[in-house]
Amino acid sequence: MIDNPEDTTGATPHHDTAIRSYYETGDVDAFYDAVWGGEDIHVGVYAHAHEAIADASHRTVEHAANNAADLLGPHATVLDLGSGYGGSARALAERFGCRVVALDLSEEHNRRHRAANARRGLDGLIEVVTGSLNELPYEAERFDVVWSLEVLSHVPDKESALAEAVRVLKPGGAVVFSDIMMAEATPAEAVRPAISRLSMPTLATPSFYLDLLSGLGLKDVDFEDRTADITTHYARLDEEVHRRAAELRDVISPAYVDELLTNLPLWTDITRRGLLRWGIFHARRPAA
Ligand SMILES: C[S@@+](CC[C@H](N)C(=O)[O-])C[C@H]1O[C@@H](n2cnc3c(N)ncnc32)[C@H](O)[C@@H]1O
Repeated sequence: MIDNPEDTTGATPHHDTAIRSYYETGDVDAFYDAVWGGEDIHVGVYAHAHEAIADASHRTVEHAANNAADLLGPHATVLDLGSGYGGSARALAERFGCRVVALDLSEEHNRRHRAANARRGLDGLIEVVTGSLNELPYEAERFDVVWSLEVLSHVPDKESALAEAVRVLKPGGAVVFSDIMMAEATPAEAVRPAISRLSMPTLATPSFYLDLLSGLGLKDVDFEDRTADITTHYARLDEEVHRRAAELRDVISPAYVDELLTNLPLWTDITRRGLLRWGIFHARRPAA
């Protein structure tokens, strides 16, 4: 676990430490490498129910980026909040030639992210920064697009996180994000056994985000409901880990594989029962 005493973000330091301790273990990285593809860590957009998890996860980036394609090009800068291994940052920089400022709490993810950028010759376009999205070290109205895939479920104060995202967005700019949410009528206790393995304090609902985005003064607020994809995604993760359990025990600690074998069926169950929602939000800051 890495607890950075010099972290000056000041925002929810205990939770930030918990997030680092969840993500910065060799087991979690090994799981994301072996099962998820080691590039993207988010729900996939599936072409069919048996598709490779890495391919579907990559499609999520391409699909979400279509929302803001009109704003992106060599002149544009994207802020990627909770950038993980940098799958989004590299895909956006390669597709649009844009600059990306990629911010993540995890030093380990950032180290891997920088190394992958250098291997792909993208380190000139992507700046990787260690910090918390709760308090962004940027002046107002700096970015053309603020982007975040599957990070807000880890953040206790989602209102202030999105207010910060809007503060740094240029007039006319777009916010694009995805998140794992609960269905409107789902009691929090019903999903707790599944999500307790991850560092997720509370899950939002689609209407919570839609109201929040409108309340922040954004326009063209849109939610593309792709809940069917999270059901496929957890079924695929569950299937892969069960099928490859013996092989995975060589690269991930056996105790962690056992934890996955117990936990992933809970996710399969709550997604099949319609207790979770997933999709992509997109909204625009009115032009000045
Ligand atoms: C599920 S991963 C998603 C990574 C990446 N967005 C992707 O789609 O591949 C969540 C990431 O959010 C980061 N994270 C969680 N809370 C954060 C915070 N408050 N500030 C910045 N990063 C955070 C974690 O370190 C982790 O890399």
